[in-house]
Amino acid sequence: MLSAQHRDIVKATVPLLETGGEALTRHFYGIMLAEYPEVRPLFNQAHQASGAQPRALANGILQYARHIDRLDTLGPLVGQIVQKHVSLQVLPEQYPIVGSCLLRAIREVLGPDIATDAVIEAWAAAYQQLADLLIGAEEDVYAAAAATPGGWRGARRFEVVRKVPESVEITSLYLRPADGGAVMPFKPGQYIGIRLTVDGQEVRRNYSLSAPPNGSTYRISVKREPGGVVSNHLHDALGIGAAIDLFPPAGEFVLAPGERPLALISGGVGITPTLPMLHAAHEQRRPVTFVHFARNAAVHAFRDWVDDLVARSPQARRFYCHEQAGTLPVDAHGRACTDLLARWLPQARDMDAYFIGPPPFMAAVKRALGELGVPPAQMHWEFFGPAAALET
Ligand SMILES: Cc1cc2nc3c(=O)[nH]c(=O)nc-3n(C[C@H](O)[C@H](O)[C@H](O)COP(=O)(O)OP(=O)(O)OC[C@H]3O[C@@H](n4cnc5c(N)ncnc54)[C@H](O)[C@@H]3O)c2cc1C
Ligand code: HEM
Repeated sequence: MLSAQHRDIVKATVPLLETGGEALTRHFYGIMLAEYPEVRPLFNQAHQASGAQPRALANGILQYARHIDRLDTLGPLVGQIVQKHVSLQVLPEQYPIVGSCLLRAIREVLGPDIATDAVIEAWAAAYQQLADLLIGAEEDVYAAAAATPGGWRGARRFEVVRKVPESVEITSLYLRPADGGAVMPFKPGQYIGIRLTVDGQEVRRNYSLSAPPNGSTYRISVKREPGGVVSNHLHDALGIGAAIDLFPPAGEFVLAPGERPLALISGGVGITPTLPMLHAAHEQRRPVTFVHFARNAAVHAFRDWVDDLVARSPQARRFYCHEQAGTLPVDAHGRACTDLLARWLPQARDMDAYFIGPPPFMAAVKRALGELGVPPAQMHWEFFGPAAALET
């Protein structure tokens, strides 16, 4: 329990975090990634270069400081952090590293006049409280995965058993445990963490599970990113029989149980988590509208699979929209907008909507759903990178 005095001091730093939180977390990462090489492989360097991860951490710390009196009002933030941490195997022994670098960054960025001993002491206690909360919640998830049939703790060696091109830029990899055992089920929409070595450097990334659970293999479907370290390696260097380490499935972008009609709206490679979701809707006979936006026919993946499933599901409908005209028939040309979604989504707006794709796409979809009257609590989205605000 934090003392009332510690809480007051932390709350008093909220205005500083609002204006200078990102400078603080940038400095923090600068210190930690330079001085603690053992945690470097967990972090995606592109998220450092773009500033997305320092921004996500700054927002996390700010929300924590704002809600320090009532941590139960922090909303989904803690769960999101826990799932991301677990998927990349953050461990309890790494928390003191983050804590000491954060306190050092507070001292160095704010200077001795503001970062007095009392401020540092209050933030040290506040950090410890949050660390204990996260460590406890993360252990619960690790333990649950280990106790599930086909589950495991830590890294498990898998091998690539099949590779299938799905479009000119997306390739699926089918992964089977090297120990020959079963794999735990996952909730449609969840992702795994992978660990591998590229050019002598250990790297970790997340990929959504793109095929329904089958008990024996997982499938990921990877878009080649120009200049991307891992996606190019998975496309070009990782052949059949190659080894790759997986951390158990995680993530909260999953279908809420219920009977409301579903809208699954994806842009580009964001289609991957919506595929097991569509399959689950089919099995549950739940009404579903599947909408996919792609730049053109050449990059439009999984069209045949979706068409086949929808043809077998009387309660499912699908719509495709390409930005550029091509030879294959589509339902519209252009980008995601209110007019298109108004035409395609059920007229009764009481639906559960799941959308995923590039952030500007998600912002457009969120805005459109709002205009159409879909209740905000029934909108769900996820980032293929650090969480951020969706500017609508
Ligand atoms: C929950 C979740 C699910 C995901 N699911 C999928 C999925 O199903 N399919 C999928 O394809 N992806 C998915 N991703 C994204 C995936 O994790 C990777 O981010 C993506 O494959 C790019 O990784 P990369 O190593 O190829 O590129 P990176 O090396 O991370 O590079 C990304 C971009 O940044 C640039 N860059 C890299 N390093 C620097 C630097 N130091 N300075 C400046 N620029 C730099 C690169 O040129 C490139 O353009 C998911 C992500 C999350 C968080
Ligand atoms: C109280 C302490 C911590 C807080 C408040 C915190 C907060 C966060 C937040 C807000 C995110 C972004 C989540 C998202 O994108 O949805 C994140 C991601 C992450 N955190 Fe933490 N974290 C803490 C401790 C740690 C520790 C101890 C480690 C291990 C070294 C760690 C490693 C990571 C990694 C690897 C990511 C993903 C980074 C990426 O995408 O490149 N965190 N954390």
